Order: sequence, then C-alpha cells, then structure tokens
Amino acid sequence: MRLFLRSVKKQPTAPIGVFDSGIGGLTVAHAIQQELPNESLIYFGDTAHLPYGDKSEAAIQAFSIKIADVLLKQGCKVIVIACNSASSAAYELLKEYVRHDAHIINVIDPMVDYIAEHYPGKTVGLIGTKRTVQSGVYARKLQEADRTINLKTLATPLLAPMIEEGFFNNQISHEIIAQYLADPTLTDIEALVLACTHYPLIKPEINQYYQNKIAILDSAAIVAQALHQYLAAHRLLNTTAASHQFFVSDYTEAFEAATKLFFKSQVELRHHPLWN
Ligand code: DGL
Repeated sequence: MRLFLRSVKKQPTAPIGVFDSGIGGLTVAHAIQQELPNESLIYFGDTAHLPYGDKSEAAIQAFSIKIADVLLKQGCKVIVIACNSASSAAYELLKEYVRHDAHIINVIDPMVDYIAEHYPGKTVGLIGTKRTVQSGVYARKLQEADRTINLKTLATPLLAPMIEEGFFNNQISHEIIAQYLADPTLTDIEALVLACTHYPLIKPEINQYYQNKIAILDSAAIVAQALHQYLAAHRLLNTTAASHQFFVSDYTEAFEAATKLFFKSQVELRHHPLWN
C-alpha cells in the first residue's frame, strides 16, 4: 500500500536518488558525479539503521521502502540502490513498489554483467556482508549469465562497521583485512569482487595484500556507466547545472566527514528520520 499519492513526471532535470546504510554508497554517488557531472543527486544514508549487513531481509525491505518514499517525494527520476545488502534484499520489492514513478538500478546486475564478460572460465572471489553473501544472489545471477565462472564467496561482516567508524588505512584495518583475505575460501582466486559499497574505501589495502597481482573489482564506476546508458537511452540526461543534497536518518560525524571527503564544499547534511 502506497503511503501517499505520487505523480512524478520524469524530466531530465529531475534528481537521481542514491541510498545506502551509511557512507558506502557515497563511493557510488561520487562515481556518478564523475561520470555524469550535470546530474543532481539526492543521497540518503540510513545511519540510524546501519549496518544493513546483519539485518533481516524484512527489516532491510522496510527501510528501503521508507527511503524510496523520501526520494520519490523529491521527484527522483532514478533511484540507485547503492548498497549490495539492500540490492539483494529489496530490489525486486522496490521495483514493484515504485513501478513507473522512477527507474530502479541496483549495484549487483551491472557487476554480474561485467564479471560474465571479463572472467569466463575463471575462479572469482567475492567478499560482502552476511546479508549479501547468504542471499546467494551473485552466484545465482552469475550462474544464469555464465555457468563457467567459479565464484567463491566469503562474508566479511566486520568491514563495513569498521569503515563506517573511520578505521581504514591503519594498523587495525590492515590486520582485520589480512585475517579475512587469508581465509582458505579465497585461495587461488583470479579476481576479487568487492560486493559491498563500503569496500572501495579499503581497496588500496586489499590491493596491497594481493601485491596488485589480481584485479580488485568494485561496482562504483560500473554502476555509474549503467546509469549513464539508461539515462541516454531514455533521453533523461540533464544538461543544466547540478546541485546535490545529502540526508541522513541519524546525524553522525563520520558521515559528515565522509561526505566532505567525496564532495568537498558541496555538502549540506540534513537530518531526516525515517519514522516519526
Ligand atoms: N554498503 C552496504 C553494502 O553494500 C551496506 C553495508 C552495511 O551496512 O552492512 O552492502
């Protein structure tokens, strides 16, 4: 049941909604800004409910619907689910809920297409939250796309909260990352998929662990390109100047610092609780 009546007419000038549990989706938002500098972004970080990776599917679906309502109210033409956990738990439901009011892009399908194109017959590792890994969504979609790829998945639940707390590029993060990557599950992989949008922030440390010998794949640029293709194909590319807005369901200093890291002075952080 819709919570309020919406009649959003898609216009090229309409903003693009992007959401995640916290700062991770900023890696995707930043890639979108680089790829599509004229697009206005509305970012929602659900900091009151992070980490999503340990939540039930039903909880993530409820959060996602509430966020979609916020973004639709702002007239977004596209909603990017910049979170693997929410993409695995709520993509189908959100598509059904939003219907024709906005187009929904998840972070999993563009990555699956990329892996199927570039790694047929190879052994590929994947790290992500418990929600994403336990959903088996990558294995299922990859199986449909190319049966020759051997996917080895490992849940790495400490990484997103660690990053959200600002722990990266330090001794603690090095040790936690090394512990996870030494897991026998990931032996002999030829590429590693970062199936959590927080993980690009520790990509240099992961590269260092593998001594740059294997490809580390993150979805940010790939998703931004998929968005670009969609907007171009549907004549929805904005040609006017862009402006961005950032919402959080709970104010955190870590979020403010991360938005400034990615978007410099353009940040005006607003508090928007999901439930009143
Ligand atoms: N960045 C998210 C993901 O891609 C969520 C991490 C979390 O909140 O646990 O899965």
